[in-house]
Amino acid sequence: MATKSLSILFVASEAEGLIKSGGLADVAKALPEALLNLDQDVRLCIPAYRKVSNIQESKVLLETRIDMWPHTEYKVRELSIADVPVYAIDCPKYFDREEMYAENNQAYADNGERFAFFSAACLDMLRKLSYKPDVIHANDWHTGLVPYLLKNRYKEDTFYSSMKSVLTVHNAVFKGVFSYEELHCLLEFHSRFVPEAAISSTHVTMLKAGVMSADKINAVSPSYAEELKTELGGHGMHKEFKTRERDLVGILNGCDYSSWNPETDEFLPQAYSSDIKSMKKGKKLAKSTLQGEVGLKKRDVAMYGMVCRLTNQKGIHYLLPILDKFLSHDVQLVIVGTGDPILASQLKELSAIHGEKFAFIEAYNNRLAHLVEAGSDFFLMPSEFEPCGLNQIYSMAYGTLPIVRGVGGLKDSVIDYYQDRNAATGFVFYEPTPVDLLLTLLNSLLLYTQNPKEMERLQSYAMKQDFCWKNAAQEYLDLYYSA
Ligand code: GLC
Repeated sequence: MATKSLSILFVASEAEGLIKSGGLADVAKALPEALLNLDQDVRLCIPAYRKVSNIQESKVLLETRIDMWPHTEYKVRELSIADVPVYAIDCPKYFDREEMYAENNQAYADNGERFAFFSAACLDMLRKLSYKPDVIHANDWHTGLVPYLLKNRYKEDTFYSSMKSVLTVHNAVFKGVFSYEELHCLLEFHSRFVPEAAISSTHVTMLKAGVMSADKINAVSPSYAEELKTELGGHGMHKEFKTRERDLVGILNGCDYSSWNPETDEFLPQAYSSDIKSMKKGKKLAKSTLQGEVGLKKRDVAMYGMVCRLTNQKGIHYLLPILDKFLSHDVQLVIVGTGDPILASQLKELSAIHGEKFAFIEAYNNRLAHLVEAGSDFFLMPSEFEPCGLNQIYSMAYGTLPIVRGVGGLKDSVIDYYQDRNAATGFVFYEPTPVDLLLTLLNSLLLYTQNPKEMERLQSYAMKQDFCWKNAAQEYLDLYYSA
């Protein structure tokens, strides 16, 4: 019996395969693909930034302007990621820039207007393309105004009135806070009283607008969905999340094994599987290639890797105070990432002091990220908070044991060696302190040095875990139907 498939428009500010700065892009590629594999009609909409792959050669489907927006024309271009059709909103005034969000660590001054425009255009194009999705799936603050506008601007419009909206919260620390002046392009904000979005008499947040307007909301892990409702974990919005709790669920992200699979990974010197012999050989080669590339001595030593945005969210401030102590042991550490210049300079200083043991690569480099995942024995994610986290899931797939703090999606995906030896896939610590991190690091080192056979068993077991997107996509489908 054929069931009717849904038509879903997935709206995001970035998508892997076309343009990426973080985990949101991974999800924006993998989830639509997984929904397509469940026979849904799914399409994606992103801004046509200058650096979107092949943007200039892409076909123009529509040239138009938003009626309710001052003097701004835009085009809709057609691209694709695998078999998922992508609409790119091409408006040079807002998106033909060197970067997506910021230059030299300085956010673009008109980001509020840029993403308000993007959100408005996503909805505006629908009628002009005669495309009527059942569900519009927005993501994070950048597209928080999509549910808001759908509910307010279009509620009386029969073309739009049956469409439902879902908002996924990937990281609520970023809320998109702007003054009413900055969002003056939106007619709805002229009265300066938008209670669903206001955080003060002068400012609104686009995430709140989305949370209060979407038909359904989800966080990217069950634990993060719970944390958002608490004062400690709600990033200042726990009251809003609490208000919407009946429509708020948590769905753990999956892993895109077409990109993250050591059996097929082209960035590795040699492919390997979870078979212990193959794994040992593949990881050994990856380790020495990694050591060569980052300038560490090629030796058989416990390798700890970390790839992340340099922000306090990622727990670098728990690592810095104990780095000297940790590096007094026979270990190597490689950290790859960009972000906060102060954290970067501290890491640079420490890597200069501990040159033979610690390499810090200030870069955003996908190939190196794959090499770190494969060439390390342990992967560090001591996050202060973590909505889902993807690298711990990639680590498991590469037989690299994650060392994580038990928050958000980290808690939902890694099983601690000291809690359950048989089911363990890594190490989990809970207290947000440098000392707890250090103890956990030393416990992991003990396993590596004292019990290599047990270490291998764990690595191979971690590789066999399956976080496939198919299951997550099925949960999203249920959420769409419930909307
Ligand atoms: C954000 C979160 C991260 C999550 C990703 C994808 O980057 O910080 O935890 O995995 O979004 O949902």
